[in-house]
Amino acid sequence: MSQTALQLAYLASAVLFILGLRNLSSPRTAPTGNLLAAIGMLVAVVATLVSQGVVGWPVILAGVVVGGSIGAVLALRIEMTAMPQMVALLNGFGGAASALVASAELLDGMRAGIAPAGIVPTAIVLSTLIGAVTLTGSLIAFAKLQELMRGAPIVYPGQRFVNALLGLGAIGLCVAVALSPLELPPYAALVGLGLLLGVLLVIPIGGADMPVVISLLNSYSGLAACATGFVLGNSGLVISGSLVGASGIILTKIMCDAMNRSLGNVLFGAFGAVAEIGPGAAGEQRSVTGYTPEDAAVIFNASRTCIVVPGYGMAVAQAQHAVRELMDLLEARGVKVQFAIHPVAGRMPGHMNVLLAEADVPYDKLVEMDDINPQFPETDVSLVLGANDVVNPAARSDTSSPIYGMPILDVDRAQHVFVIKRSMNPGFAGIDNPLFYNDNTKMVFGDAKGTVLKITEALRST
Ligand code: TAP
Repeated sequence: MSQTALQLAYLASAVLFILGLRNLSSPRTAPTGNLLAAIGMLVAVVATLVSQGVVGWPVILAGVVVGGSIGAVLALRIEMTAMPQMVALLNGFGGAASALVASAELLDGMRAGIAPAGIVPTAIVLSTLIGAVTLTGSLIAFAKLQELMRGAPIVYPGQRFVNALLGLGAIGLCVAVALSPLELPPYAALVGLGLLLGVLLVIPIGGADMPVVISLLNSYSGLAACATGFVLGNSGLVISGSLVGASGIILTKIMCDAMNRSLGNVLFGAFGAVAEIGPGAAGEQRSVTGYTPEDAAVIFNASRTCIVVPGYGMAVAQAQHAVRELMDLLEARGVKVQFAIHPVAGRMPGHMNVLLAEADVPYDKLVEMDDINPQFPETDVSLVLGANDVVNPAARSDTSSPIYGMPILDVDRAQHVFVIKRSMNPGFAGIDNPLFYNDNTKMVFGDAKGTVLKITEALRST
């Protein structure tokens, strides 16, 4: 394969990656985006292997079949709620692959006694350090989400100082290796320190913050791949690594903004450790109004407009199909039904979109926060389905609240608010929700799926 053909193949795959990312920005076009990006990766990998001339077509095809089958089985078997763990593992493997390739290049040079020149030593140390941090950081994120280890932040006195010291040590080792790339001990120390840093940086972060960390580690895996691209002089790898690095950091920023938290607060704030404040913690007793599903059905029967606000509880209860059934019934009776999507509802980006798409709720019924908020005052019923923090009005008014400033869905401005959850327990942020005590709020206690099914049944018989 000529150099021109190889570079053209890389260019084609870069275009496919960019088109893929563009399409991933909407749930409607996301499957096409995924397919385009996958084709781009196939083109890049096959072009690289063919240009090297080391393996023939049978081996390439065997690799595609074996790798594709493992990927397909994993993707088909994984539960939707376990998707963040799977992404964490894949990020970790990506980081490990980059670090291994960089190490192989350096060790080859050591064996031949030829020091890498130009930008290559810098690229090797960056790929090694970032790849090693990504590997162990992702494994810890996986273990926390899979509940193989405690999800709560693991903190100890002087932790940040220790981490900062180790970080400085890693930078020092990077400089040492880049200056004398034929010495094995500093390189081995760099690998060890990178692996240790990955563990130490992620253990103080609470399990529920892991989606943000995973998105950041995804960005790291892209940066490591990009550095490896410079080690190998492979422009395809440089481009794809940069795209992953940039998109990962953009997603991280979107998630942090939607929670009104800085990245520093997520990484160093040990957020999962906040004390839980139950209702009446300040000695004040407030009462809530409880409704049965049958009571709720009576109000639904008289309503013309309804906005459903899904949250983490809908995912836990797998209530998306039940709510779709309720939507169908309401629509058949002339009620306008929409779904309000908060950017960090649930526990991973696009969590609600994916679940509702699985239940065939049409995309045009899913409305983003900024577009739906002005509609709440004219809405008869807002149905809060297993959501809590994303509808907490304290974020608007209570300057002492840990979520003050977080943009929320203004459900409390609707005429009637139904909140379906099992108890008065707080959500992810561990704080009480004044919404539950409002005069226009009715709590319908129970599992999200069972309760929605009961409302639908009651509505059918009215
Ligand atoms: P949460 O505030 O976590 O509240 C979920 C509620 O669901 C809980 O109060 C719980 O109450 C209820 N619930 C649990 N299981 C249920 C079931 N089977 N049936 C009915 N209700 C059930 O959820 P949210 O409003 O979606 O907010 C998401 C939170 O996660 C935000 O604080 C956000 O910052 C954070 N977060 C999100 C992301 C992403 S990317 N989405 C990433 C990191 C952090 P009961 O126990 O009383 O039922």
